[in-house]
Amino acid sequence: MTGNGFAIDAQRLTKVYGNLVAVDHVDLRVPAGSIFGLLGPNGAGKTTIIKLLTGLSDLTDGTANVAGYDVVRDPMHVKQRVGWVAAEVILDDDLSGWENLWLQAKLQGLSDWKGRAEQLLAYFELTDRRKDKVGTYSTGMRKKMEIALALLHQPEVIFMDEPTIGLDANVRRMLWELISGVNRQFGVTVLLTTHYIEEADRLCDHVAVIDHGKFVATGTPAELKARVKADFIELETSQAVTPERLASVPGVTEVRAEGAAWVLRVDSAEATLPPLLQTVGADGIRRINVQGPSLETAFIDLTGKRIDQPGSDVQDYRKFYLNVRRARR
Ligand SMILES: Nc1ncnc2c1ncn2[C@@H]1O[C@H](COP(=O)(O)OP(=O)(O)O)[C@@H](O)[C@H]1O
Ligand SMILES: [Mg+2]
Repeated sequence: MTGNGFAIDAQRLTKVYGNLVAVDHVDLRVPAGSIFGLLGPNGAGKTTIIKLLTGLSDLTDGTANVAGYDVVRDPMHVKQRVGWVAAEVILDDDLSGWENLWLQAKLQGLSDWKGRAEQLLAYFELTDRRKDKVGTYSTGMRKKMEIALALLHQPEVIFMDEPTIGLDANVRRMLWELISGVNRQFGVTVLLTTHYIEEADRLCDHVAVIDHGKFVATGTPAELKARVKADFIELETSQAVTPERLASVPGVTEVRAEGAAWVLRVDSAEATLPPLLQTVGADGIRRINVQGPSLETAFIDLTGKRIDQPGSDVQDYRKFYLNVRRARR
């Protein structure tokens, strides 16, 4: 922890790749013991921030203090005090749970690790399966094992990069409980990245909404929701309708195309729906969806777009890790 109660305290954090400013003068303060979420679409700069804060990538500009140490002057101390749960699988399937812990201890040069390993196995209810190959574990058990590995050296801060990407809803919910449990039980500060709005809402004490390398808003989920003074109506029509026509409906303050649908920002959905239905014609509506203030609408309001559209992310994720593997060869 830094002297001022922040586990992470970064100022003007910046990373430039060639012409691209991937992280653009970001100020980030994470209270010790909290769960902090970086919420943003693919390419927003989330992973780059983790790389900067863990000393894996050099800062172009700015300063960062993590777990009490300066990442530029003291990267080794930072690495000893932080853990990382990567989005990609790091387990060795041919080794047992216990052997994976042993390997992790070797990699990190830990001498006195067995008691801690036993404690973690018990906490994650994996003691019975410790001698089984990790390849035989369920998805949920594998996630537990990955978190156990990240906690083995008793880090003060753990970084989780899109921890629930590609998981089905049940496993995702289980993982949320695990993450908040680990946060409480071990007092570890968690910085996670996500592009799932519900995840940020349910799990995080504080959220920074990031887009194009910049924080567009930070606050508790409740604070971010309270900023939104509008409702959103999403609308798909069977007949072509012009944005001008939609904008002419009383109470509509903004019209945006979103694939085959229109997204209307309105002062009040209740007041706008009747004239809207009249304008478009109730028969002509294929789908209509109203959203009140939520972190989702806050995000749309802040960035002008949605993020958790299914499909695209998984492709990018695969592509990204394919690149990583290529780069490693
Ligand atoms: N090593 C790199 N070299 C060049 N550009 C990079 C590199 N790593 C990331 N980027 C670019 O920086 C931006 C932010 O990437 P990233 O931090 O991975 O975003 P996120 O994790 O939010 O999806 C993207 O435009 C990405 O293409
Ligand atoms: Mg990323």
